[in-house]
Amino acid sequence: AERAGQAHFDEIIAKDSRIEPRDWMPEGYRKTLTRQISQHAHSEIIGMQPEANWITRAPSLKRKAILMAKVQDEAGHGLYLYSAAETLGTPRDELNDQLLSGRAKYSSIFNYPARTWADMGAIGWLVDGAAIANQVPLCRASYGPYGRAMVRVCKEESFHQRQGFEILLELANGSDQQKQMAQDAVDRFYEPSLMMFGPPDGDSPNSQQSMAWNIKRFTNDDLRQRFVGMIVEQVKVLGLTLPDPELRFDEESGQWIHKELNWDEFKAVISGNGPCNVQRLARRREAHENGAWVREAAAAYAAQQAEKVA
Ligand code: 3HC
Repeated sequence: AERAGQAHFDEIIAKDSRIEPRDWMPEGYRKTLTRQISQHAHSEIIGMQPEANWITRAPSLKRKAILMAKVQDEAGHGLYLYSAAETLGTPRDELNDQLLSGRAKYSSIFNYPARTWADMGAIGWLVDGAAIANQVPLCRASYGPYGRAMVRVCKEESFHQRQGFEILLELANGSDQQKQMAQDAVDRFYEPSLMMFGPPDGDSPNSQQSMAWNIKRFTNDDLRQRFVGMIVEQVKVLGLTLPDPELRFDEESGQWIHKELNWDEFKAVISGNGPCNVQRLARRREAHENGAWVREAAAAYAAQQAEKVA
């Protein structure tokens, strides 16, 4: 049965078709998808924190309403992705424990502080922009539940990116202080957003297998390149600059040459030693404890309902 399963799996991957939850799959495929999808979900949930801090400080009701809608979307993205991860056999509370215990990763970018209102613009434009560049190819991931979740996520992310761009555009066209605040936010989020795409291809242990299984469609460096090509144009419309004097397009190689990124910092951030890792996890644990009564009530209600039916 295993040999037949493997042959069927190989045929589906060779045809660039979809693997569904009930299909036979190699344990490594199940494992790497559980790893990636759950960490993607953790990123969405932790990613709510930097922006949530600014909902009560938004400069207008319009901005507050938009930011609330965005943070609510991120929670929904997390729920889709935990549901997709669960179809691979690991229950959600186990995935959650992996996050709360510090064993699971989540996107490096959320371990940086959001210091000013302009950061809401830089996060929307750069972080959600990078997330879109990474998530559009994931709509075609070979694992059905993941690819389908990405279609809905990408639609909502484009609103997130646009509202961030608009915040920066307004500030850049405002007073000198506002323009300076916008430039400062771009300066602080540029490098960390480039590092969201993962380590350089030569230092990416999962890429090769993920690409062979049609999970990852482009390498980390390819997507980083694509993203740089996008923001180089968009930053001109903002009338701001990217903090990268070395940034240039190399005609010969057809590549954007950007400054060397700080991969030591990246390794520190993804191993729990970034600027905000401790507070992000402490906040998540506190929120999890505060929400215990909701889980208990829901479980009690479900048990009651089950008794009625029994
Ligand atoms: N943050 C944290 N960890 C990262 C990372 C990052 N930016 N980039 C890479 N890593 C980790 C990997 O998880 C892996 O560790 P692991 O084996 O323990 O999981 C290690 O570094 C080596 O990296 P690889 O390149 O070998 O790993 P992958 O092939 O998994 O590629 C990835 C990394 C590109 C992030 C890929 O996992 C991916 O595409 N994940 C889904 C996208 C995602 O997580 N996006 C989050 C963006 S934030 C977001 O979506 C919220 C938005 O609404 C703002």
